[in-house]
Amino acid sequence: MRLNSIITIALLAQGIQANAVLRFGCSQIVVERLDPLVNPSINPSPHVHQVVGGNAFNAAIPESDVSQIANCTTCSFSEDFSNYWTANLYFKARNGTFKRVPQIANRGNNGETGGMTVYYTSAYDNSKVTAFKPGFRMLAGDAAQRTDGGITEWNAICFRCYTAKNFGGDNAAPCSDNTVDSVSLPKKACPGGIRTTIRFPTCWDGTNLDSPDHSSHVSYPATGTFEKSGACPSTHPVKLPQLMFEVIWDTTAFNDKSLWPADGSQPFVFSQGDNTGYGQHGDYVFGWKGDVLQRAMDSNCFGATCKELKSQTFTEANECAVANSVNEAVDGWLTTIPGQISPLGRI
Ligand SMILES: *[C@@H]1O[C@H](CO)[C@@H](O)[C@H](O)[C@H]1NC(C)=O
Ligand SMILES: *[C@@H]1O[C@H](CO)[C@@H](O)[C@H](O)[C@H]1NC(C)=O
Repeated sequence: MRLNSIITIALLAQGIQANAVLRFGCSQIVVERLDPLVNPSINPSPHVHQVVGGNAFNAAIPESDVSQIANCTTCSFSEDFSNYWTANLYFKARNGTFKRVPQIANRGNNGETGGMTVYYTSAYDNSKVTAFKPGFRMLAGDAAQRTDGGITEWNAICFRCYTAKNFGGDNAAPCSDNTVDSVSLPKKACPGGIRTTIRFPTCWDGTNLDSPDHSSHVSYPATGTFEKSGACPSTHPVKLPQLMFEVIWDTTAFNDKSLWPADGSQPFVFSQGDNTGYGQHGDYVFGWKGDVLQRAMDSNCFGATCKELKSQTFTEANECAVANSVNEAVDGWLTTIPGQISPLGRI
């Protein structure tokens, strides 16, 4: 099935009509313990992240126009110098050692390595969305969350357990199919791996580019969801494009139950020491050049091509790099997840 028809079916399954939906891959740019949003200038930061996007990524990113600082990006839209990152998933073997779970490219990929798929969606009721401003940044989710609640109210973060290789069981919109979706990490082995979906808040206070908790300058809709055209609260009246990440964790090498805990519990743990999945979170530093994101939202762009935007091949994108600046191993069999106290605990 063609990619566009898959997205269209997913959107129509929710009873909605797509307007602008950018959907594009971004290769990995670095995997390391840095967090310029939550722990700026701290090297190393408390937990490992997998990062995609522009090469301005560093322990700190100035609150200025990132598109003037970066020279290249691992995303297919070559004017998108934003950075997007999440925690990493690790496998904990029965013998107590950990190994990082690799990421694979999403359905319809064009040569990206690992990384993630990024979506920007304009309002389904065709009302205006206002693109982010230079210096804007935000967080979705809470690394310390360990129980149901909080962000799960908006169905914003979930996991899909693929029932077979090649995205088996992927027929419904994210977080909408209880037979394959869950807000905690799947409890059983997933034959095709596990996808994480992270939807960001879509309402802005109209003033602040950031806030002390990196969340309170933005909000989810006052009622309903972005997909259902829920209104923004009066405190955060400016409707933003919906930013969404999809990360595909290739857990297939770790599905041998003889390596799982003896009690049969699921063995995956996020890099902040979270084996529930409720602490999954995403970070965003806006870095599109000029007004191109606004122009893309105002037109009917769909998928990974948009006449308003310049694109590059992944052969070009994959040349963009950030040198790892934290001197520690994040791969191979490790006695602890970097920065964590074994077995689990600290975030
Ligand atoms: C971008 O290129 C300029 C000129 O070559 C260089 O000085 C600068 O360090 C580069 N920036 C990054 C983030 O690599
Ligand atoms: C722990 O288990 C993994 C998976 O079976 C294995 O590859 C690794 O060598 C083991 N490590 C130790 C120290 O026993």
